[in-house]
Amino acid sequence: MSLKQSLEWRYATKKFDPAKKLSADQLQHLLDTVHLSPSSYGLQQYKILVVEDAAIREQLRDAAYGQAQLTDSSQVIVFAAETEINEAYVKKYIDHIVEVRGIERSAVADFENVILGAIGRMGEDQKIAWAHKQAYIALGIAMAAASEAGIDNCPMEGFNAGKFDEILGLKEKGLTTSVILCIGHRAEDDHYAHFAKVRKPANELFIHI
Ligand SMILES: Cc1cc2nc3c(=O)[nH]c(=O)nc-3n(C[C@H](O)[C@H](O)[C@H](O)COP(=O)(O)O)c2cc1C
Repeated sequence: MSLKQSLEWRYATKKFDPAKKLSADQLQHLLDTVHLSPSSYGLQQYKILVVEDAAIREQLRDAAYGQAQLTDSSQVIVFAAETEINEAYVKKYIDHIVEVRGIERSAVADFENVILGAIGRMGEDQKIAWAHKQAYIALGIAMAAASEAGIDNCPMEGFNAGKFDEILGLKEKGLTTSVILCIGHRAEDDHYAHFAKVRKPANELFIHI
């Protein structure tokens, strides 16, 4: 299937089949693909949690207004924004570039200063909002990658982020929940699978200038 066909096949799965788990290879392929998501300056200012623990998922379901996808999907992927984007964070990133590319640190000194200048002009809330945006790019890639691999998925922001942070111990990790993606396989009787896709007509969406 082309990516377009995969996205026609996908829908926001409301009812997962709890008996159908993804294979380890399927999950790994998905994570490897999401790993390649681009981000502003390449900072990847978020982390991605893969939640399988049944007891934790019960708690997450309660914090997500009882939505069944939290417990019935194969895994819950939580995208969490970094809350401490500072000089040390940038230094670690630059060190990593130097190591991966085998270059002198001086070759990326200007780049480091540009990033430090940009984050220096942002308030703490702005930096977190910026990190959330990057996490949503990863969410988009994850939905596309899952769909291409025939993995059903449901993006969700219908949850209490504060409670998610508490359940997952994110504050201590310098993180806060952005958005989640439940993945697995649709239940045969999920009637949402048969609904026609509703999207704005192209002439209302695209503006050609
Ligand atoms: C960021 C985001 C948050 C969403 N939150 C929820 C949610 O909490 N629960 C849910 O069942 N669907 C949720 N959806 C699914 C949307 O309702 C769905 O994608 C939209 O209606 C289009 O339908 P389709 O994905 O089936 O094509 C969310 C979608 C996105 C992109």
